[in-house]
Amino acid sequence: MTDLSASAWEARYQSKDTPWDLQGVTPELTRLCEEKLVPLKGARVLVPGGGRGYDAVHLAKLGAEVEVVDFSPTALKATQELAFAEKAVVYTYKRDFFELPDTSYHQEHYDWIWEYTFFCAIDPALRPNYVKAVARLLKPKGLVAGLFFPTSIDREGPPFTVEKKEIETLFSSQFEVSLETPKRSVGARQGREFLGFLRKK
Ligand SMILES: C[S@@+](CC[C@H](N)C(=O)[O-])C[C@H]1O[C@@H](n2cnc3c(N)ncnc32)[C@H](O)[C@@H]1O
Repeated sequence: MTDLSASAWEARYQSKDTPWDLQGVTPELTRLCEEKLVPLKGARVLVPGGGRGYDAVHLAKLGAEVEVVDFSPTALKATQELAFAEKAVVYTYKRDFFELPDTSYHQEHYDWIWEYTFFCAIDPALRPNYVKAVARLLKPKGLVAGLFFPTSIDREGPPFTVEKKEIETLFSSQFEVSLETPKRSVGARQGREFLGFLRKK
């Protein structure tokens, strides 16, 4: 399988081999914010695998308290540089998402989690662990708002395919699952991703 280690992700950023990078805020996230479908002012938001940080900085500028976990120092440096340029505050953690310490800080701390192209980047065998982790991190009734991509791919991942049925199976015992068609998918992603609102029970 393709190398999914921290050093492999870091090498991708260092060599600018980052085809997933939209070079700006995810349009569907902009819509969720405009239509007030996610809490912003004062809300605690976690962005796992936040990449170069466009989405995290956008949320911070709209008043959210944003934390990013990513294990690429180059991606986190870009996030901090963008936050500085945009006069926003984003807290960045260079960590493996699956090794966040099990301290009280990371128990039921976040109002919501923004998920985009992190779930599809991890080893699919870790998906049940992802569900356990977000259930622990979110406050009661907290939300995972996520664009799940790609529903199809013709080569070896990452990204690894994700299907609605799998999201329902993985999340439904601990989350209310609502899956929708996104309104602002970008380019070749149109028709190959779905929007999930996963509300912790
Ligand atoms: C496909 S990229 C997506 C980045 C960003 N969400 C975007 O849309 O541009 C996946 C990101 O997750 C990070 N990542 C992958 N596995 C991780 C893990 N286990 N813990 C922390 N970060 C991880 C990578 O370093 C990379 O920045």
